[in-house]
Amino acid sequence: MNQLRTQVGIVGGGPAGMMLAHLLHRAGIESIVVEARSRDYVQERVRAGVLEQGTCDLMHAAGVGARLEREGITHQGIELRFGGQRHRIDLSGLTGGKTITIYPQREVVKDLIDARIAVGGAIFFEAEEVSIRGFDGDAPTIQFRDSGGVQEIRCDFIAGCDGFHGVCRPSIPAGALTIFERTYPFAWLGILAEVAPSSDELIYCHHERGFALHSMRSPSLTRLYLQCDPNDSVAAWSDERIWEELHTRFAVAGGWKLNEGPIVQKGVTPMRSFVAEPMRYGHVFIAGDAAHIVPPTGAKGLNLALADVRVLAAALAKYYAGGSRDLLDSYSQTCLKRVWKVQRFSWWMTSLLHRFPADNPFDRRRQVAELDYITSSRAAAQSLAENYVGLPMEGPQRFP
Ligand code: FAD
Ligand code: PHB
Repeated sequence: MNQLRTQVGIVGGGPAGMMLAHLLHRAGIESIVVEARSRDYVQERVRAGVLEQGTCDLMHAAGVGARLEREGITHQGIELRFGGQRHRIDLSGLTGGKTITIYPQREVVKDLIDARIAVGGAIFFEAEEVSIRGFDGDAPTIQFRDSGGVQEIRCDFIAGCDGFHGVCRPSIPAGALTIFERTYPFAWLGILAEVAPSSDELIYCHHERGFALHSMRSPSLTRLYLQCDPNDSVAAWSDERIWEELHTRFAVAGGWKLNEGPIVQKGVTPMRSFVAEPMRYGHVFIAGDAAHIVPPTGAKGLNLALADVRVLAAALAKYYAGGSRDLLDSYSQTCLKRVWKVQRFSWWMTSLLHRFPADNPFDRRRQVAELDYITSSRAAAQSLAENYVGLPMEGPQRFP
C-alpha cells in the first residue's frame, strides 16, 4: 500500500472540493483531492448555471475570476410569466445594485482544476473503492485504489465534498446524524439546445400544464426545463414533444418567439429537499451536496456548496494559524443557518411555480394570487430578489 500524508484530505473534486482545495492552498494549507470520476467527466457534466453575487465575489477574491469576468453574462433581472403575461423582477433595483451571473458550473470546475494543477496541487482522478476511516479519533485516513495500486492518505481532517451519492455521509454512524427530507411529486426534463436564447433574462413560467424555465449557457446555447413526471424517462420526450410543450407553456398574449434549434443534451432531474445535521462528525466535515440538496428552482445548490467551503476553509485557516478550534466547532451551526434559509427559499419557489398532482382549485388560485402579489408589491418582490441574488455570506467577513 502506498502511504501519503497531508493536512486536509478532500473526497470529491466537484465545485465544493475544488474550491476548498484552492482556498486552503491560498492559506498555506496542504490538501489532497480524491475524485471518483475522470477529469473530462467532471469538467463536462451539465449542471448549474446561475452564480449569486457573493459566489462571483468569492471567485474574484480567490483569484479565479478572470474567465468569469470575461465570459460570464451578468443579469439584472428575471421574468416571472403566468396567466400568459410577462412580469419583470428588477433584481438590481430591489437589492441596491446586486446581480446574478450566468456562468456554467463546468466552467467553475474547469477554472478551479486549472488553478490546482498550476500550483502543482495533488489530485487523484478515477479513484476506485474510496473509503474513509479513523475519523472519530485523531488519525483519519482516506483509502482508494487507482492505476498505481492501493493508496492511503493520512490527514488531520477529512472534508466530505463527494456529493449526494458519495461515501462520506454514509460512513458516519447511523444515529449521529438527523435527516430532514422532502420529495416532490415531479421532476425536471432539462435540455440544451444549440440556438440563441429567446430572452435576455431567465424566465420562470407558471402554467396550467406545469412549470417551465428558460435559461442559457452562452449567446448561442439555450438551456430549457419542463416540469415532468418523476418516472418519465428521456425516451418519453421526443424533440417534437419537447418543443410543442415549451411553446404551449411559454405562450404569451401579444406574442413572444421561442427560438428552436438542435437539442444536444437531455436529462431528467429528480427534485428533493434534504439536510443532514450536524455537518460534522469527529474529524470529518461534510459540505455541499454531501450534506444537503435543494430543488433547483431557486438556482441555489452550487452557490450553497461554495458558501459551505468558504466557512470550512476559514475555520481550518484559523486552526492552522494558531491552533484555535472555535471556528471548526461552530462550522456546522454557522453553515446550517444559511442552509435552512436557502432550503426555505428553494421550497417556496418550487411550491409557488409547479403544478402539484393533488392540487385542488383553491391551491391553483392561491398560487396565482401569490404571483400577482409578488409582481405588484415592492415588499414582496424585494424578498424574492434578496434571496435570489444571495443572502450575505456567513462566517468571517474578510475571507479569503
Ligand atoms: P458535486 O458537484 O456532486 O460533486 C461531488 C464530486 O464528488 C463529484 O465530482 C463526484 O464525482 C465525486 N464523488 C462522488 N462519490 C465519490 C467517491 N465515493 N469518492 C470520490 N469522489 C466521489 N445549483 C445552482 O446553484 N444553480 C443552478 O442553476 C443549478 N442547476 C442544477 C441543474 C441540474 C440539472 C442539477 C443536477 C443540479 C443543479 N444545481 C444547481 C445543483 C448543483 O449542480 C449542485 O448543488 C453542485 O454540483 C454541488 O456541488 P458539490 O461539489 O457539493 O457536489
Ligand atoms: C440553469 O441554467 O441550469 C438553471 C437556471 C436557474 C435555475 C435552475 C437551473 O433555477
